Amino acid sequence: MSEVQDPIYKTDALIAEDIDAYLDTHQHKSLLRFITCGSVDDGKSTLIGRLLYDSKMIFEDQLAALEADSKRVGTQGQAIDFALLVDGLAAEREQGITIDVAYRFFTTEKRKFIVADTPGHEQYTRNMVTGASTADLAVILIDARKGVLTQTRRHSYLANLVGIRHIVLAVNKMDLVNYDRAVFDGIVKDYAAFAESIGIEHFVPIPISGFKGDNITALSENTPWYKGPVLIEHLETVEVDTSADQAKPLRMPVQWVNRPNLDFRGFAGLIASGSVKPGDPVRVLPSGRASSIARIVTLDGDLDEAVAGQSVTLTLTDEIDCSRGDVIAAADAPPQVADQFEATFVWMSDEALKPGRAYWLKLATQTVSASIQQPKYEININTMEQLAAKTLQLNGIGVAELTTDKPIVFEPYADSHTSPNKTLGGFILIDKITNATVAAGMLHFSLRRAQNVHWQAVDIGRDAHAAQKGQRPAVLWFTGLSGSGKSTIANIVEKKLFALGRHSFLLDGDNVRHGLNKDLGFTEADRIENIRRVGEVSKLMADAGLIVITAFISPFRAERDMVRSMLPDGEFLEIFIDTPLADAEARDVKGLYRKARAGELKNFTGIDSPYEAPTDPEISIDTTRMTAEEAADIIVERVVGIWSPDL
Ligand code: ADX
Repeated sequence: MSEVQDPIYKTDALIAEDIDAYLDTHQHKSLLRFITCGSVDDGKSTLIGRLLYDSKMIFEDQLAALEADSKRVGTQGQAIDFALLVDGLAAEREQGITIDVAYRFFTTEKRKFIVADTPGHEQYTRNMVTGASTADLAVILIDARKGVLTQTRRHSYLANLVGIRHIVLAVNKMDLVNYDRAVFDGIVKDYAAFAESIGIEHFVPIPISGFKGDNITALSENTPWYKGPVLIEHLETVEVDTSADQAKPLRMPVQWVNRPNLDFRGFAGLIASGSVKPGDPVRVLPSGRASSIARIVTLDGDLDEAVAGQSVTLTLTDEIDCSRGDVIAAADAPPQVADQFEATFVWMSDEALKPGRAYWLKLATQTVSASIQQPKYEININTMEQLAAKTLQLNGIGVAELTTDKPIVFEPYADSHTSPNKTLGGFILIDKITNATVAAGMLHFSLRRAQNVHWQAVDIGRDAHAAQKGQRPAVLWFTGLSGSGKSTIANIVEKKLFALGRHSFLLDGDNVRHGLNKDLGFTEADRIENIRRVGEVSKLMADAGLIVITAFISPFRAERDMVRSMLPDGEFLEIFIDTPLADAEARDVKGLYRKARAGELKNFTGIDSPYEAPTDPEISIDTTRMTAEEAADIIVERVVGIWSPDL
């Protein structure tokens, strides 16, 4: 992730000489976080460079270097090329391909600023969302020669989506259109129509030239028709309501439990909203247990009160369960707890959304496994139309339902009456295998059907079922190419277990696809759903005390891992039937490889659909070195060996 980048700030002489005096003067100024967005070449770097320059945060040595560089490599003739200043920093920063948001700090007499600069390339929606998620204001840059573009709409939509309520429309490069008022008015009119269609109620249009400095710090003589405000003035005076979060009920997601010795147990975290005092009644979510605040502990001693934005350690008057991921909340206004939601997703990965696949979902300090349904619709952000979609591709924005494997504590992201609930409403999705962040999202609401469906307690539990059968349940999960020998070996394994008096059931791909899964084909999404259902059925059968044997290609690691995670440790045995493609194809028992090669069968595993071999299976069977009978013996021995003796 990104970090605060402030090389310019560091070089300031005043700071270097007397940091304390400097900080003291500046500490009481308010802080504005903003983001600049624009397409490539809209002049973003030049504008930021200009802001830094005009707020005098560039040390003179550096300025001299900049002047020299501008003459040497700049694109602006003899004038200073401010883009060099910022792009130069960007180059230093380039380390890998992680989210690339640069945060820069600068200050004026009236206010401190943190500006998130996000690359404007079409692919970088993710940077934009990352930068925007903490911003109070967005400067949407438009090239006066080009007007409102797709990127302008996308960025405005995203800014609004993540809850930025202050928008500046900076119509840049006015010098290149002769400061023509008609051009400016035309762009403002276009933008106003778009803004209204997406629910942006208010924006401040300013005609500027980042390069020449028009209307940045002072009204420009070149635009006598424009009466203000100028950019800096607006940034310095725009009112950001920082008290909104404090006015809400208390929410503190627990980051960690501080337990230095047996006498002290504190819950450390950042207060997301509200305020807290010793004695306040609270609830710990999701359990809902009630207690009250004993102390508010900080490194500088105990506090009488703490408010949103402060990191503290809270201690409670009762010894109740509370750990990382839990949320300490106002007892009379707790947040909701649910496991099924509707949400907006901004897809940020080259790999499209795979409906049904399990991803890690991180929301505040909670991490759970979550899967997303096929989108209800995707949004075309040029027309705001809702389009049917089977998935979401890179930069796609859509609405879909989502299920988590455990209830999470949340609040709807957008709340029309107050500022957005970013902490408990916003989340990211992470690919479980690559660890890449694939999406950001905002929860709308929990689904009523989830609220009304409860777990029913049953008296005969899984242990009782297993004990009655005198065995420990297991899922023997066969995976391998079509024609690798899964079904053949699985069948022999079941016969052997049966002969040993074990209670088992065999679920076979071809058979299940005639019944339970007859609505599914062989697209990625259908295979994921196929395995999800079979996983659920296997789990139910294991709960019934059975040894379940499954024979499915199950080509994706993620879904095999998902089934593994549904079962108690040790009850899932991944059995890789390792047959080289050439051998399976040579056998071609069902004639399907021939059809696939002839182009008569699409998405055939190993031919034009991938197979991800297990990386660490419990059992691996090399079918080129043994018969099916021998393979079955190895498997049965493992199963019986592990579980028979004293169970
Ligand atoms: S899986 O990929 O979703 O796990 P599954 O094991 O249920 O597949 O079904 C695989 C069987 O379906 C194959 O053994 C083969 O008989 C048949 N089949 C039909 N079309 C295909 C295809 N395109 N790819 C793989 N198997 C196919």
